[in-house]
Amino acid sequence: MDINTMSRSGTFGSYLTRNDISRRSFLKICSTFASLLALPSDALPALSEKLRQATRPSVIWLSFQECTGCTESLTRSHAPTIEDLIFNFISLDYHHTLQAAAGEAAEAARLTTMKQFFGQYLLIVDGSIPIGNGGVYSTIAGKTNLEILKECTVGAKAVIALGSCAAFGGLPAASPNPTGATDVATLMNNGLIAKKTLVNLPGCPPLPIAISSVLAHFLAFDRFPALDDLNRPLSFYGNTVHERCSRYHFYQQEKFVERFDDEGAQKGWCLYKLGCKGPTTYNACSVYKWNQQTSSPIDSGHPCLGCSEPGFWDLGGFYRSLDDVAVSGQRGNNKADTEEGQLLYEDNCVYCHSIDPSKFATEADKISELLRSGNIRSHRRLEFTDDQLNILDKYLKSIK
Ligand code: SF4
Ligand code: SF4
Ligand code: F3S
Repeated sequence: MDINTMSRSGTFGSYLTRNDISRRSFLKICSTFASLLALPSDALPALSEKLRQATRPSVIWLSFQECTGCTESLTRSHAPTIEDLIFNFISLDYHHTLQAAAGEAAEAARLTTMKQFFGQYLLIVDGSIPIGNGGVYSTIAGKTNLEILKECTVGAKAVIALGSCAAFGGLPAASPNPTGATDVATLMNNGLIAKKTLVNLPGCPPLPIAISSVLAHFLAFDRFPALDDLNRPLSFYGNTVHERCSRYHFYQQEKFVERFDDEGAQKGWCLYKLGCKGPTTYNACSVYKWNQQTSSPIDSGHPCLGCSEPGFWDLGGFYRSLDDVAVSGQRGNNKADTEEGQLLYEDNCVYCHSIDPSKFATEADKISELLRSGNIRSHRRLEFTDDQLNILDKYLKSIK
C-alpha cells in the first residue's frame, strides 16, 4: 500500500475506536472544541457527527525561515491530549522537520501528495519566506522557499500560516529585514503565490490548542471558523491578553511591578510598567496557557511581548511601558526627526544601553561628540552619518 492510500483510510470515528476512546470521552472532546471555537451550543451534535465521519486529510507542512519553535510547541505536549488526537489523525504526508524521509525521497513524497490530492490537501506553513536577492537566503533541494511555496499553494485547498513568522514576518522580518522575509498573506496579495483561503495563527509560538481546534473545525465542516480582518480565528484572537489576565485586578487597583525583583513582583502585581503589551495584544494565552495549560509568560512573571501582533519586534522595545511608547513620537519640535532618532537608538544603542534613553549615564550633550571622536573602541563599528548623529543627538536631548 502506498503511503497516501494507507494514510487516507478510515474515518475519525474508526480511529477513535481503534484507540479505545469511548463515545463519552469523544463527546467531551467535541464539547471542548465547541467551547474553544465559541460555537453555539446547538452546534455540538453537528460537530460530533461530522467529526466522527471525517476522513483523514492530507497535509503538507512546509518550514521556511523559522526556529522550530512552532513545531516544538505542538509536538511537545504530553499525551494524551486533544492536540495528540488531532495530530495523530491527520495524514502528515510531508513535514520538513518531522519526516523520516530525506533528500530525493522527501521531495518525491511532496510531489506525489501534490499530484494525488490536488485541490484537496491542506498546506501548513511555518516560518517566513525570504525573497531578498532572489531568495538565496533559504533553499531546499536547490529551490528557493518561494518556489516551493508557489508550487505547493497551487493545489492546496486551504493554507494555515502557523506562527508569527508565517503570519506576519516575525523575527526574521525585524528591521532591517536583511533577507526580505515576507509573510504568506503578503505573497498572496502581491500575486507571488496563488490566492487561497488563508487562516493566520500568529504567536511566537502559537497556542497548540488553537491549531488543533482550527483543524477540528476544518475536519468537521470543511472550512475554517470565523476570522478577523487579519485572518485570525475570532474565537482565539477576538480578545486582548489584558482582558482575561489573572493580574487584571491589580491593574485596576493600580498596583504595578516596578522592577523584576521588587515586592510587587513577588506578590504577582500587574506588569504594565515593565512594558507589558497585553492591552494591545490579541491572543488567548491568558486562558489556554502552555505546558498542558499550566502557565503563560505573564503567569511566570514576565510581561507580554505582544508576540502575536504584526511587527512586534519593532514596536518600540519589549520593556518600555505602553505609555512611553505612545508619547515618544510626540516629544521634541520635529516629530519626524524624533521618530528617526528613536529608531536609530533602538536599532543600535539598546544592545548595550538601557531601553530607556533617559537612564543613559553619559550627558546627552556628550554622546554624539564621543561617537564622532572615534575614541570609544566598542562603538567604532557604528558607522553613523553626520546627519544621523545630529538626529540622534536631538532625540537624546529631547528625552533628557
Ligand atoms: Fe520560531 Fe516564533 Fe517564528 Fe514560530 S513564530 S518559527 S516560534 S520565531
Ligand atoms: Fe494587563 Fe499585562 Fe497587567 Fe495583565 S500584566 S493586567 S495583561 S497590563
Ligand atoms: Fe505572546 Fe504575550 Fe501570549 S508574549 S505568548 S501573546 S502573553
